[in-house]
Amino acid sequence: MEDLRGGVAVITGAGSGIGEGLARVAAEQGMKVVVADIALDRADSVANAIAEQGGEALAVKVDVSDPQSIEALAATVHDHWGDVTLLVNNAGVETLGFSWELSAQQWEKTLNINIHGAIHGVRAFAPRMIAAGKPAWIANTASIGGLGMMPIQTSYILSKHAMISFSECLFLEMQIKQAPITVSAILPGPVATRIFEDGGTTTDTSSEQHRVMMNTMLEADGISGYEAAQRILPQLAAGDFWVSTHPDITREFAAGRAAHLSALAKPALPEEVLRGMGLSVNGK
Ligand SMILES: NC(=O)c1ccc[n+]([C@@H]2O[C@H](COP(=O)([O-])OP(=O)(O)OC[C@H]3O[C@@H](n4cnc5c(N)ncnc54)[C@H](O)[C@@H]3O)[C@@H](O)[C@H]2O)c1
Repeated sequence: MEDLRGGVAVITGAGSGIGEGLARVAAEQGMKVVVADIALDRADSVANAIAEQGGEALAVKVDVSDPQSIEALAATVHDHWGDVTLLVNNAGVETLGFSWELSAQQWEKTLNINIHGAIHGVRAFAPRMIAAGKPAWIANTASIGGLGMMPIQTSYILSKHAMISFSECLFLEMQIKQAPITVSAILPGPVATRIFEDGGTTTDTSSEQHRVMMNTMLEADGISGYEAAQRILPQLAAGDFWVSTHPDITREFAAGRAAHLSALAKPALPEEVLRGMGLSVNGK
């Protein structure tokens, strides 16, 4: 964590949940923190709370799905504080519904935020980080869901598979360039945040039921965004590629995925998982 002290951290989606936690913990570690979020009021209140604790924070409104907005964020940060030490492409949204029932706009919104948001983040920040020639860190928030499958959260789950793939390829690209940039994929387990409160759904009842059950599950079993960040930041600083909030669940999901693929098995979920999600397959 010493390596991060005094550096500049840019966290997207930092107005709430895991991003808010990361902003607070990074500030506690002596980083100057850019609290970037589409909801400026939330970003402001996180930045104010950090300042009240004696930290340095700058709230900036950004829409990660808009390349110009992220480019403007990168320019603002460089003008304000210079080279960036840590970028966390964290902003993400949930969208629930059967694949064919989500509108084109719902699909585009989800993929533009969850996938293109991180890509635009790297396009805007990585050239400056590479040019600075100093050790720096880029992390993309995926999910343990990126190691598995979950019907009705299809648009979200595929975006998290994409985040893992993007992070793996980006890691190798940095090695090819011999850039001193460490790349990580963050795979949070359950964290009690507003993600399912805000999650858009189609109007069908099973998707709405699924959203409510997921929200209830996170409220009951999820750790706080702050605690998640306390687990995440040391792993990032240590240069781990796979960064987890719940290592046992991550290992279980990874092993399950590996076994499933090596058997070239058909998609399947255990019945208890389906029941837990309020779902059934073939009416059972
Ligand atoms: N909560 C969990 O259990 C969990 C599990 C795995 C992965 N994740 C991932 O963690 C990340 C953070 O989610 P969270 O659970 O803290 O959710 P959250 O809803 O509490 O916070 C997400 C923040 O992103 C912001 N945001 C949304 N669209 C944006 C945009 N276009 N541009 C900029 N900011 C935008 C929101 O305003 C919000 O403040 C997401 O990528 C999510 O997929 C969460």
